[in-house]
Amino acid sequence: MRWGAIQTYIEPFLGSGAVLFDVAAQFPHLKILALDRNPRLIATYGAIRDEAPAVIRQLWEWQEQYWQAGETVRRQLYHQVRDRFNAEEGSAADQAAAFVFLNRTGFNGLYRVNRQGRFNVPPGRYRRPLICDAANLLQAQRVFQGVDLRAGDYGSVLGQVDAHTFIYCDPPYRPLSATASFTAYARDAFGDEQQRELSAFLRRCRARGAAVMLSNSDPHNADPHDDFFDALYHDWTITRVPARRSINSQGDRRGPVQELVITNYPVTLPGGAPQQKNWRGAQDRLEEDSLHKNYSSH
Ligand SMILES: C[S@@+](CC[C@H](N)C(=O)[O-])C[C@H]1O[C@@H](n2cnc3c(N)ncnc32)[C@H](O)[C@@H]1O
Repeated sequence: MRWGAIQTYIEPFLGSGAVLFDVAAQFPHLKILALDRNPRLIATYGAIRDEAPAVIRQLWEWQEQYWQAGETVRRQLYHQVRDRFNAEEGSAADQAAAFVFLNRTGFNGLYRVNRQGRFNVPPGRYRRPLICDAANLLQAQRVFQGVDLRAGDYGSVLGQVDAHTFIYCDPPYRPLSATASFTAYARDAFGDEQQRELSAFLRRCRARGAAVMLSNSDPHNADPHDDFFDALYHDWTITRVPARRSINSQGDRRGPVQELVITNYPVTLPGGAPQQKNWRGAQDRLEEDSLHKNYSSH
């Protein structure tokens, strides 16, 4: 792999796009294709790219209302916006603003839909949430300018993958235990079968000459004998890295867990990666992580 030869960056599980923002800033010459199966998320990014001022105006208005209101009126406003979002009322910019508003004021910033596809997260309780982060939205507008944004299944990008592509996949993580498994009833189930299908897809990308990177949870956090990914990617480079995922509300249970970075090229980490196993409390933390990951798309 000659890194200078990379011309295209593809991220088919976009979510909040944390990696894409970094890549776009560091490598402005790249052609970028970003995809997610959540059409509402992609439409939101599209509206931020194409009409950020209208999105900001609406968010500013709701922020003013929210900050001045007491709890009852705040809840009313939340439900009003949620109903409009579910009815797909208003312009693309209004819909995008609703998506951001619900993300900023809903319970734990979750994104969750019921079987009918209706967003059903209850209101959260915040003192003075930043609903209209204009600087951030304008920066996102700049980053998205050249980005090809698409809604769909990750498999649909295969045609764009060639020897000049870097593809990064951050799929819904594999739950660490049966009790942590929400995949049985989650609408967007991503169980072991889907993880296997994804590995077959990534092998096809590799065969096309692309540089491939995948991240996932490390089953060793919960069970040192669970070699699901080690077996699935036995002929790839598997790097175990500590990840800081502090979503546990009990401070004493916060801390690093181990995650997997799987690549089809060798990786050297600065200083070497710690290879800790079975960290205390890791399973509990990851069960919550799985919940967060399975339901959070932005
Ligand atoms: C773990 S999140 C990605 C997190 C992201 N890297 C970030 O920084 O937030 C997984 C994302 O994959 C999307 N997704 C799930 N199944 C998919 C599929 N089959 N094809 C494309 N996207 C999918 C979900 O909508 C969700 O946004």
